[in-house]
Amino acid sequence: MEFKIALLPGDGIGPEIVTEAVKVLNVIAEKYSHTFTYETALVGACAIDATGNPYPDATHEVCTTSDAILFGAIGDPKYDNDPNAKVRPEQGLLRMRQSLGLFANLRPLAVFDSLIDRSPLKREIVQGADFVCVRELTGGLYFGKPQGRSEDGNTAYDTCVYTRVEVERILHLAFGIARNRRKKLTVVDKANVIATSRLWRQIAKEIAPQYPDIEMEFMFVDNAAMQIIQRPTYFDVIVTENLFGDILTDEASVISGSLGMLPSASVGAKVALFEPIHGSYPQAAGKNIANPMATILSAAMLLEHLELRKEGQAIRNAVNKAIEAGVLTEDLSSEGEAHSTTDVGNFIASNI
Ligand code: IPM
Ligand code: MN
Repeated sequence: MEFKIALLPGDGIGPEIVTEAVKVLNVIAEKYSHTFTYETALVGACAIDATGNPYPDATHEVCTTSDAILFGAIGDPKYDNDPNAKVRPEQGLLRMRQSLGLFANLRPLAVFDSLIDRSPLKREIVQGADFVCVRELTGGLYFGKPQGRSEDGNTAYDTCVYTRVEVERILHLAFGIARNRRKKLTVVDKANVIATSRLWRQIAKEIAPQYPDIEMEFMFVDNAAMQIIQRPTYFDVIVTENLFGDILTDEASVISGSLGMLPSASVGAKVALFEPIHGSYPQAAGKNIANPMATILSAAMLLEHLELRKEGQAIRNAVNKAIEAGVLTEDLSSEGEAHSTTDVGNFIASNI
């Protein structure tokens, strides 16, 4: 089959990890007789440097004319350390999510047996953990208006907004995912304090009867933050609003041993975007040390989304082989045993 894939490497380690994922995709194409054509576009700090805009129109055009998007990472310290910057790289990712209608971010958490001892958590706690966090991606504090500063600069405000339509669609999606898994859905909120959470709860209760086979429960986000670490095997599907999902999934990555292992899929409208959950890790950029596995696993999710299931599985198997063989970057290996980004990519590509 023929597919056009948009490549958005972005900033920091983004280009290096996307290069490894493309290497793997090319082997898949050859082995399974597909044609993947790629078009690369700018997003983030590199797009600001080149055009002044973190998500240029040309990039949007590449995305909307592709079958799927593979995204690397975004962010640059020169903006992180400048609270007055008018244009920020992260705006590129947010605009992209919003303008492509990507309202749901699916973040599966899996534990790899041979990495269990890499987790700072005890083996008996993390073994068997297998859940997916469904993070709402285009609402809440990230997008609510007004947002800004008072004239004297001494007051800042963000607004958390959710509409019924936004809440209903993400909950339906989460119930649907739970239906294909262990049929348990945890709605994470802060309904004891904030109004948007109470709307989420109300709508979840209204919708639940349409899914009588799913066991639904509510959990406050502070409690969820604790339970994810204390009892990760308890969860099957978690659904939550944008900021809670952002925070809880970085936390959850600790279970798998490294933030460099967690892929994600952002879905909603026509074209879907696949991205590692980690950031641009600027300290590692250009050093050939970053873990490419989250991006390679995102490529597996991309193929599965295009209904290329065997192909996605082939990538997963090759990643497992690399893990078992100890072909791992420094975030996961003992001192002196670290492999480079390209080594890990080459090993996975040659084991497809
Ligand atoms: C993520 C990232 C982004 C987010 C940043 C880079 C805007 O942390 O994808 O989790 O907060 O959504
Ligand atoms: Mn994040």
